[in-house]
Amino acid sequence: MSGESITVTFTESDGATIRGEVEIGNSLMRAAQILNVPGIIAECGGMAACSTCHCYVDREWLDRLRPMDDMEAGMLEIAIDPDDRSRLSCQITLQSDLDGLTVSVPRDQA
Ligand code: FES
Repeated sequence: MSGESITVTFTESDGATIRGEVEIGNSLMRAAQILNVPGIIAECGGMAACSTCHCYVDREWLDRLRPMDDMEAGMLEIAIDPDDRSRLSCQITLQSDLDGLTVSVPRDQA
């Protein structure tokens, strides 16, 4: 970890927003845990093995993310209601260029 933090915002399915600063180097899943986002379950603890950290990345941020690998794509196939904004939050590493990142949390996780 570098000590530098960025701001991330989660929007819950009921419209509630949870915003906070999280140190870069953490995963977005870890950010959800730090900020107590209830809709991110993260059952497998970040191993890309459960899909319960599924989130929808706001379109303006999608191009700034590292492309998903085959394992992430496979797990998203068993997520509930995936779409073209879907990512596993455990596979997104917070970097300085993601300052301001906004994502939405699904209504249900697998
Ligand atoms: Fe299980 Fe991300 S925490 S796939």
